[in-house]
Amino acid sequence: MKAIAVLPGKPNSVHLAELPKPKVSDVSDGKGVLVKVLKVGVDATDREINDALYGNAPPGYSFLVLGHESFGVVEEVGPAVTGLRPGDYVTATVRRPGGSIYDRIGTSDMTSEETYYERGINLLHGYLTEYFVDSADFIVRVPQGLKHLHVLMEPMSCAAKAVQQAYEIQRRMKVWQPKRAFVFGAGQIGLLSTLALKLRGLEVFTFARSKAPTRSSEIVSGLQANYVSLSDTSIEDFAKANGKADLIIDATGSSAMAFGGMKVLAHNGVLVWTSITGGNKMIEVPSDKINIDWVLGNKLLFGSVNANRGHFELGIQDLALGEAMFPGVLQQILTTPVDGLDNYRELMRLLVEEKSALKVYMNVAEG
Ligand code: BGC
Ligand code: ZN
Repeated sequence: MKAIAVLPGKPNSVHLAELPKPKVSDVSDGKGVLVKVLKVGVDATDREINDALYGNAPPGYSFLVLGHESFGVVEEVGPAVTGLRPGDYVTATVRRPGGSIYDRIGTSDMTSEETYYERGINLLHGYLTEYFVDSADFIVRVPQGLKHLHVLMEPMSCAAKAVQQAYEIQRRMKVWQPKRAFVFGAGQIGLLSTLALKLRGLEVFTFARSKAPTRSSEIVSGLQANYVSLSDTSIEDFAKANGKADLIIDATGSSAMAFGGMKVLAHNGVLVWTSITGGNKMIEVPSDKINIDWVLGNKLLFGSVNANRGHFELGIQDLALGEAMFPGVLQQILTTPVDGLDNYRELMRLLVEEKSALKVYMNVAEG
């Protein structure tokens, strides 16, 4: 079967590779699930992998099959699988367990090991192919009624984790009642974080560079959040006029914005960094001012990456509730389809060049 692969370490090496079709029995304990791939999304991580900035091939291979945002249909299950049947729509988690205690309790997103195993990213083949097999432990059912949101399951899981972690951490406050949230960035993670925060009853301000109206600004309004263009105001001026935020999620891909969040966080607040910044950018920061402000305000910063099964399930619930509350809004994120694995060059071209695309994804098969 065909697969879209790169040669890690070699820039712009995207190509079509050939792999044998996997079998349910490839998973030895009877928990194998054979999934026919229907759609796969790509994001900045895939771009960085094709730029040879990131990613490694599985042991014994020179190439890495791309794709970590999966959506497919179950074709066959092993004898020990319960709760999944042929015909079910599914997605799959990305990271696979290493050896740390966190890996062993199903939270490999929190592994304490330096090496992490991620399908389509690091040391494991991804989903940009015709079929894949994995243990039922890593396959998550997608309700039939959310089929039209297909490749959003994985990015939503990352947004759901970031928000859930913030609330977990803020249990330090005993009675945390956040009112206002800022989201930096109106790409897929920014928009899905906006949703997750709105569903928790916050007043949400989502910041992005472009002047409204854009597709992003319309989605933000559709979610009954507030779109703020950074060409109209700076985050500091905005906070001076409107107040600081109890919770900030940065999803811009800009470390300068991530650090900028430190200046507009309210007392007892929490700032979450989710961007993966591959470069070597340096900025100057008012370190004394931030230091004293953060100490006197008991403020907190944490990073959030990846997502485990629980976050996928939580994210799917958020998408379902989001559809009920804001019908038709979320599918507007799915801007840019490409048909067929053979069109891998077009997929990567759109990912790099189509600046207005919120989500580039491949239609691998009908179903
Ligand atoms: C993926 C995450 C992954 C991270 C780091 C992101 O693009 O969505 O699942 O953990 O990259 O590799
Ligand atoms: Zn990703």
